Amino acid sequence: MTKLLLRALAGETLPTPPIWMMRQAGRYLPEYRTTRAKAGDFLSLCYNPELAAEVTLQPVRRFGFDAAILFADILLVPQALGADLWFVTGEGPRLSRIRAASDLAALKPADRIHERLAPIYETIRILRRELPAETALIGFAGAPWTVATYMIAGRGSPDQAPAHDLKNNDRASFTALIDLITEATIAYLSRQIEAGAEVVKLFDSWAGSLKGRDFDDFAVEPTRRIIAALKARHPGVPIIAFPREAGQRYIGFAKATGADCVALDNSVSAEWAAAHVQIDGCVQGNLAPQHMVTGGPNLIAEAQRITRAFRGGPHIFNLGHGITPDADPDNVARMIEAVRTA
Ligand code: CP3
Repeated sequence: MTKLLLRALAGETLPTPPIWMMRQAGRYLPEYRTTRAKAGDFLSLCYNPELAAEVTLQPVRRFGFDAAILFADILLVPQALGADLWFVTGEGPRLSRIRAASDLAALKPADRIHERLAPIYETIRILRRELPAETALIGFAGAPWTVATYMIAGRGSPDQAPAHDLKNNDRASFTALIDLITEATIAYLSRQIEAGAEVVKLFDSWAGSLKGRDFDDFAVEPTRRIIAALKARHPGVPIIAFPREAGQRYIGFAKATGADCVALDNSVSAEWAAAHVQIDGCVQGNLAPQHMVTGGPNLIAEAQRITRAFRGGPHIFNLGHGITPDADPDNVARMIEAVRTA
């Protein structure tokens, strides 16, 4: 097993961490914008295996990242379950809303998602043929709570209020939705692994808005169930969990869920996370994405501080969230150089 990313995920402490970036294929790259225009729009790009593989490969070619992440979106699962999905330019995703038991009843069962998602599995097969031998391929899905927040609100919502309302006022419908997404996610990620994904990651972007018992019930428990099912079917495949903005709840998250690695946002310090999270195993993160826009000596200093803080254990270098469209690609090359010479 020579791929650096897989070695870190197996718990090895490496002299130089493997490096990749959330949203590494994206609008900050001119070659991405060109391919996206060729596809027509974002969803057409996701469902075009040749072009989706092409944009996945672009940042690997340009920067030599240690991992590629499948080009797709967490909202393809709701769409495969029967929700309408579209993107409004400059605003983000829109979906038909789940507000009551009758909306839930109109969705498909979890095992009926594959027809719609077949192109995604094809993208993975192409990538396994075309990626360099040293580059690991990461598949992914949204975690149930985060996916549910979009399905319930019908869009991104800064405080996830509609999802909290359904959770608090119609518990039966809410938990039925979480269970359906959990089952669909297990089915989806199993197929991704069978197609060739070597690692899978669960994005729980809105985990931080779950507090107390809700965090246990709707961030920890669905993640634990998905990981247990995947480990039973595919024991060797490492899983990264990203309970974004979990704060103190990052402590013990890997143990509670069975995740091989916990991804850290940039609201926790690397020094704190090394002491409280990395003691349980591999961590990933946590450079603030804004440094990829501003660059300069602060970018170098921060990338090296984080690399050194995590040097005593397994670490995958990454940002604390996705790189933004206004980032400068030259800063990515500078960041990589800084990490590798830290
Ligand atoms: O390079 C990669 O990281 C792989 C591809 C990937 C995308 N989305 C492509 C994308 C991944 C892993 C995601 C995950 C995703 N999608 C999350 C979880 C991670 C996070 O950012 O918190 C969420 C919440 C979504 C839902 C989503 N997709 C939103 C809210 C938006 C609009 C915001 C935006 O950045 O435009 C998207 C669109 C999206 N997904 C883009 C990309 C490259 C931009 C689409 C475009 O080209 O116009």
